[in-house]
Amino acid sequence: MSDAPLPVAIVTGAARGIGFSTATELARKGFRVALADLDVAALNVAGQRIGELGASWMLLPGDTSDFSGVQRHAERVVERFGRIDLLVNNAGMSQPKRLLDITEEEWDRTIDVNLKSCFNWCRAAVPAMLVRGAGRIVNVSSVSAHTGGARSAVSKFAYCASKAGVLGLTRGLAKELAPHIMVNAVCPGSIETQMTAGLIAAQREAIVRSIPMARVGTPEDVAAVIVFLATVEPNYLTGEIIDVDGGQWVN
Ligand SMILES: NC(=O)c1ccc[n+]([C@@H]2O[C@H](COP(=O)([O-])OP(=O)(O)OC[C@H]3O[C@@H](n4cnc5c(N)ncnc54)[C@H](O)[C@@H]3O)[C@@H](O)[C@H]2O)c1
Repeated sequence: MSDAPLPVAIVTGAARGIGFSTATELARKGFRVALADLDVAALNVAGQRIGELGASWMLLPGDTSDFSGVQRHAERVVERFGRIDLLVNNAGMSQPKRLLDITEEEWDRTIDVNLKSCFNWCRAAVPAMLVRGAGRIVNVSSVSAHTGGARSAVSKFAYCASKAGVLGLTRGLAKELAPHIMVNAVCPGSIETQMTAGLIAAQREAIVRSIPMARVGTPEDVAAVIVFLATVEPNYLTGEIIDVDGGQWVN
């Protein structure tokens, strides 16, 4: 057995949904995991469940759009685990408001939570990766970054703009941080989580009809691709965007 220290992953939005599934799968693969989320009660439960898998874990409660809070969280991870190998920028919010209804504050909040949070965490975690000359970042965007969103989708243009920003950030940082740090993104399609539960319950048949693979996605479907990007060896992938949507947006 190798004596090498276990790798360390930070997953944002880890209390539930795609983030929790990703943290769970990373724990199963031998990562030590730092779980970041706003929802402290759900985060505590998520940590206990990860611990039951035998993995080391720590909690980072707080808002990922808070630049200095994120900086302090990254420092805590390095103090506790000694390194950062992987950052999964998954935390996100929906935004159902249309152009003529959205307020300036709602626009700013959408961009802060969905895009600035990725900047905050990259800025905070990359120095620890550079110390070791290696690291990986996986950002969670959305197919609506390409499509502008389905007409029936909960989230409208501001969400699409924030998620398109995540793709630009991914491509720009992939070039800037190569060859040491690989930066890739996934674009989930219709995935059944708390964020989409209402819409999917109301329109399941129509949504399923629009998906060539004939089912809505699960958090585990997305987690599997994130874990692939986090662990594939040998690795020659950076700046790559992978749609995880059952073929919904193939055109
Ligand atoms: N579910 C889908 O169909 C779908 C489709 C495309 C993209 N996505 C993206 O996938 C990611 C995960 O979504 P999900 O479906 O699992 O949603 P979810 O609502 O189930 O989980 C999101 C998690 O992020 C946390 N969070 C939200 N804002 C935060 C903040 N400011 N700071 C810290 N934590 C915060 C929430 O508390 C929650 O635990 C999001 O970025 C979402 O935009 C989801």
